[in-house]
Amino acid sequence: MTRFLFLCSSARPKGNARLLAERAASVLPAQVPQDWIDLASLALPAFHDRRPAGTGPEGALTEVWQAMLAATDLVFVAPVYWYALPAPAKLLLDHWSGWLDAPDMAFAARMRGKRMWLVTARADPDPTVTDPMEAMLQRSATWLGMEWGGALHGIGDAAGDVLTDAQALSRAATFFPR
Ligand SMILES: Cc1cc2nc3c(=O)[nH]c(=O)nc-3n(C[C@H](O)[C@H](O)[C@H](O)COP(=O)(O)O)c2cc1C
Repeated sequence: MTRFLFLCSSARPKGNARLLAERAASVLPAQVPQDWIDLASLALPAFHDRRPAGTGPEGALTEVWQAMLAATDLVFVAPVYWYALPAPAKLLLDHWSGWLDAPDMAFAARMRGKRMWLVTARADPDPTVTDPMEAMLQRSATWLGMEWGGALHGIGDAAGDVLTDAQALSRAATFFPR
């Protein structure tokens, strides 16, 4: 049973990355559940590296982990910030390193086989701008034994600009499996 989890990390609520992700998600079949979490609006705890004594999710991360567990597909919905992922998305990934060592969590086993995607927006039309963030997510997915679904790119700076990126909108229509 396919279930999509959208992990949004823009510092503005209805930004370009989210608008593009919503457009792509609108063609998912009605029976495919979608969960949307705005990581930037959650009080995510700081990551403290206590390895090899891993710790499981705490505070707002408990909700995120439950949604991750239920999902077959994890979509990072992320604008480009300084050629990288926004801080809340990166912070979540850092927590995964602690969860890998958390006793009784079976994090690696439970992540294996899930599929990771990226929906991103940026101001700079240079197509190589997203190479670092795409590579780090793809490599992280592969390292975790996850599948890589692919990346959907939009261009825009002011919120809503991406809705004039005809190429991105066209690709959004067929990005996720229908
Ligand atoms: C902190 C910050 C850093 C940014 N860094 C880049 C960058 O490195 N390259 C780029 O093309 N755009 C950069 N931008 C522009 C955003 O990627 C662009 O405005 C994008 O549309 C924002 O997406 P959102 O509306 O989903 O937040 C940056 C914007 C902010 C606020």
